[in-house]
This record gives sequence, structure tokens and C-alpha cells, in this order.
Amino acid sequence: MIEVQGLTKRYGDFPAVRELSFAVRPGEVLGLVGPNGAGKTSTLRCLAGIIPASDGTIRIAGHELAIDPVSAKRALAFFPDEPRLFEYLTVRQHLNFVARIYGVRDHETIARPLLEEFEILDKADQLPGELSRGMKQKLAIACGLLHQPQVLFFDEPLTGLDPLGIRRMKNSIIRRARAGATIVLSSHLLHLLEEVCTHVLILKKGEKIADGTLAEVAQRFSNGESGVNLEEIFLRATGGSED
Ligand SMILES: Nc1ncnc2c1ncn2[C@@H]1O[C@H](COP(=O)(O)OP(=O)(O)OP(=O)(O)O)[C@@H](O)[C@H]1O
Ligand SMILES: [Mg+2]
Repeated sequence: MIEVQGLTKRYGDFPAVRELSFAVRPGEVLGLVGPNGAGKTSTLRCLAGIIPASDGTIRIAGHELAIDPVSAKRALAFFPDEPRLFEYLTVRQHLNFVARIYGVRDHETIARPLLEEFEILDKADQLPGELSRGMKQKLAIACGLLHQPQVLFFDEPLTGLDPLGIRRMKNSIIRRARAGATIVLSSHLLHLLEEVCTHVLILKKGEKIADGTLAEVAQRFSNGESGVNLEEIFLRATGGSED
């Protein structure tokens, strides 16, 4: 469960995220969408405790991030758009290292299926420099899932993957939501988001324009038409329509 109330993030005087409130329940996948610079990455970084919020409260699995950051962070994983890895640790050593940081016992039994799921088991003894971009992303995701978090934040998880990789990533996200995880992801690939998300939140200049189930948001911007897709909703909601 994620509960966000009045989240504001300022960089100096510049408000990148303003008075944002929403909740995501277990089993739900919220798609965070908005034009470049709308505040998606800033929001995700605040929710994950990577950067401090300027105002508002964030509760992750019942733990208030500002008051009990360790419990909140134990319950979550954040997958940035640019995975950061250790140049001199192999794939296996990354997993061992993360397991020690999070105190994951018997981590080999968790790590192996993750490496299999993300198809990097045969790269277990290689260094990041020897992996492709997509493989590095998969390693970062395997590391983040090792402590079996209930709340998952993905920043642009589908960008840079090949078509099969995209399908597998979508399936991984959907499978984890069905198993009870609470998920927020940002993406510009709106046709793919439609297949993964149960809910969407549209941001523009740091402010929430709309949120709800896909059907609810579609209804709001449909102008009475049926079958309006997320791309059209996005364009109408953010004022980017060419028509
Ligand atoms: N570290 C920072 N210092 C100052 N301003 C920042 C910083 N990070 C982001 N911003 C500003 O905050 C705003 C929101 O940026 P953010 O990266 O959250 O947008 P985004 O929605 O993720 O965009 P994109 O779709 O391009 O990834 C932008 O105007 C950006 O210039
Ligand atoms: Mg971003």
C-alpha cells in the first residue's frame, strides 16, 4: 500500500511536484504519465526516499517514510531509468552484496530463479562492462527484487528493451501485482502501459490533472466517444493535441 498526501518537491524555488495526493493498493499497477519534465522521476525518487520531499507525507506499507525510513525502505524497491552498477562486481557478486545489505538469508535460493526469470544466469560471472544495456537493467531489477519488496517503483522500465524483453518485463510486473505487490511505474510507451496498468495518474508541470482506473480517466476525457485510447487521453489532458 502506498499513501501520498500533499507531496511537494522543490529544487531551490522551483516546484517540480505540487500538492500531489494519491493511493495505490496491493494488486494495483499505477501508470505515472506526463510530458517531459512533468515531475514523474522527481515523484518516484521522493516515494522511494532517494531524495527528500519538501512537503507532504508518504506512507509505504504503513510506514511513514520521514519517520521510519528503514522500515519503509525495507518494504520497497526503486528501479531507476539508468541502472547504477558496481564496475568491479560480477553479476553474482552484485546479488551477494545486496543480500548482505538487506540481510537476506539463504539468498541463493531467491537469486537463482530471478537470474533465470531475467535470463542472465549464464552471465553470473561477468562484469557489468561485459553486459548489454538491457542485461544491466535486468541485473538491477534482479538485485532490487532480492529482498522480496511488496512495493515496487519503476522509472521507464520498458525503455531500451527488445520486443521479447518488453513482453517479459510486462509479464513480470503483472505477475507481481497479481501476487499482491503494489506497483507504480512511469512510461511514455502509452500503448504498453494500457496493457500493464490498472490505474493511471496524469501529471503536468508537477500537478495532477487526473487519476483513476483507465476506464474512469478515459470517461473523463472521452467527450462522449467510446474506445478512446490512452495516447489520445494523454494528448487531450496535457493540451498536446494537434487537432
Ligand atoms: N536535481 C534537479 N535540480 C533542479 N531541477 C530539477 C532536478 N531534477 C529535476 N529537475 C526539474 O524538475 C522538473 C521535473 O523533472 P523530472 O525529471 O521529475 O521530470 P520527468 O517527468 O521525469 O521527465 P521525463 O519524462 O523527461 O523523464 C523539470 O523541470 C526538471 O528540470
Ligand atoms: Mg523522468
